[in-house]
Amino acid sequence: MDILKTDFIRDFIKTTDDGYKQGWHERNGGNLSYRMKESDVEAVREHFTGDRPWMDIGTRVPDLAGEYFVITGTGKYFRNVVLHPEANIGIIEINAAGDKYKVRWGLKDGGRPTSELPTHLMNHEVKKKAANGAHRVIYHCHPANIIALTFVLPLSDKVFTRELWEMMPECPVVFPEGIGVVEWMVPGSREIAVVSSDLMKKYNAVIWAHHGLFCSGEDFDTAFGLAHTIEKAAEILVKVLSIRPDKLQTITSENLRELSKAFRLDLPEEFLYDK
Ligand code: 13P
Ligand code: ZN
Repeated sequence: MDILKTDFIRDFIKTTDDGYKQGWHERNGGNLSYRMKESDVEAVREHFTGDRPWMDIGTRVPDLAGEYFVITGTGKYFRNVVLHPEANIGIIEINAAGDKYKVRWGLKDGGRPTSELPTHLMNHEVKKKAANGAHRVIYHCHPANIIALTFVLPLSDKVFTRELWEMMPECPVVFPEGIGVVEWMVPGSREIAVVSSDLMKKYNAVIWAHHGLFCSGEDFDTAFGLAHTIEKAAEILVKVLSIRPDKLQTITSENLRELSKAFRLDLPEEFLYDK
């Protein structure tokens, strides 16, 4: 089967293109990964190469041993994925110890997976354990409004969750569990991967201060839709704060409780504090 005609690769490429068109992927900014199903692997195995060496991941993900991922390449531009998929994305296999990967397809001419491979894989490992492994997509982008807010709001899960929830009722419906925040850390490091994946046990979205956003989803639409919703709320908040820093009215904690009941959201009490 032609790899580029499979649904999972088409969806992968569409997501990179959608993100680029949103303006969230300047230059090589952002990265995307998809944990393949066994049926995906079997459909394209005939195209796999054994020529590429095993390389260090930079962390250990034993629960992902033997898994295959589609992933964007380091230094590669989202803009170019749709034009030259084989040069800008690839399929990697994880070894039995969970500490090395091998490129099996794509990433032509010696390309390597994203420098955020440790965070992608550690997030996948967390999400594979949760909800019977329903989540398969991890998406990292650089949306301007969410990044801007990390300069003016306290870097706490409580503040970001509540402020974004207040911007539109869609927010508590789309991310009722809230949103995590990581203070500034060195990108690409194992340290940021450890902190981020710990937050992914509780949330499906994690903000990296002064850098960007990581989202997890069952499929490309839910991961991308989550980032889209969060960034839309952040844009409204930036506008509100720019017009006047003290809101004249808002969606109150009481309103959120009503919403929680009506939509059976079970919103955690920690985010329903009085202001
Ligand atoms: P890569 O080009 O290595 O994917 O890095 C882009 C990025 O956004 C790092 O956080
Ligand atoms: Zn980044």
